[in-house]
Amino acid sequence: MKSAVVEVNQVEKVYGKRNENHSRVLKGITLSVKEGEFVGIMGPSGSGKTTLLNVISTLDQATSGTVEIAGTDIVNMKGNALSDFRAQKLGFIFQDFNLLENLSIYENIALPLSLQGVSSKEIAGKVQEVAIKLGIEAILEKYPTAVSGGQKQRTAAARALVHNPAIILADEPTGALDSKNAKSLLEAMHDLHENHHVSIMMVTHDVFSASYCERILFIQDGLLYKEIHRNGSREAFYQDILNVLGKMSSSKEAI
Ligand SMILES: Nc1ncnc2c1ncn2[C@@H]1O[C@H](COP(=O)(O)OP(=O)(O)O)[C@@H](O)[C@H]1O
Ligand SMILES: [Mg+2]
Repeated sequence: MKSAVVEVNQVEKVYGKRNENHSRVLKGITLSVKEGEFVGIMGPSGSGKTTLLNVISTLDQATSGTVEIAGTDIVNMKGNALSDFRAQKLGFIFQDFNLLENLSIYENIALPLSLQGVSSKEIAGKVQEVAIKLGIEAILEKYPTAVSGGQKQRTAAARALVHNPAIILADEPTGALDSKNAKSLLEAMHDLHENHHVSIMMVTHDVFSASYCERILFIQDGLLYKEIHRNGSREAFYQDILNVLGKMSSSKEAI
């Protein structure tokens, strides 16, 4: 049996102080992600997807409940322990790439390792390895402004992967890409999961993107609404996802 890389138990997130204008954004979410899984999070705008990902990624703190990543309880971690944990165990991909424009593609990918003080020889080997996995070995000497949006996002994926994190967390990674570049990024992410056993959690409102996952968790109003697994083709899964979204929007607001 595969072990869990993420365990979220009864997580609540409340913004604002009690009795003042407070809002309960996550109302008790329990989920787990197994090693090597590619899991999608979907739900209407404002349902708490980004908040959930931020709580898992240690960028935000849960109000109550527990979050374990690779067996470590992160909810009560603070200061250096927290930033070291984040740097070593997590990889991030954001909608807007978050690359540093004055660093080359190579240097951007190398950054998580440089920050950890890894030797330049070891860095060179690792950057080369992930660049090949993401199909960007030919652009390593270029700068972000000189490459396409799709190449930028594959650079971000390589940077998220280079230090061999326990999980990659992606928030709307195809949001700024055209359909051709979105497809090649999703194929690359699917390949990481399928052939390299990389664990990925991806928030998306895009059905096409979600259809590359092997499991989707739907959230609505801060609660888990439903989960579905991919059993057959990607096309069939696409249809299954649409069906759930249709039921959600008829039971509540539009997606
Ligand atoms: N820092 C914050 N302070 C107060 N409310 C917030 C904050 N961040 C998010 N929210 C609220 O939490 C809800 C969920 O937001 P979010 O997690 O970004 O939703 P989603 O990613 O599903 O669109 C929204 O109503 C949003 O306004
Ligand atoms: Mg969001």
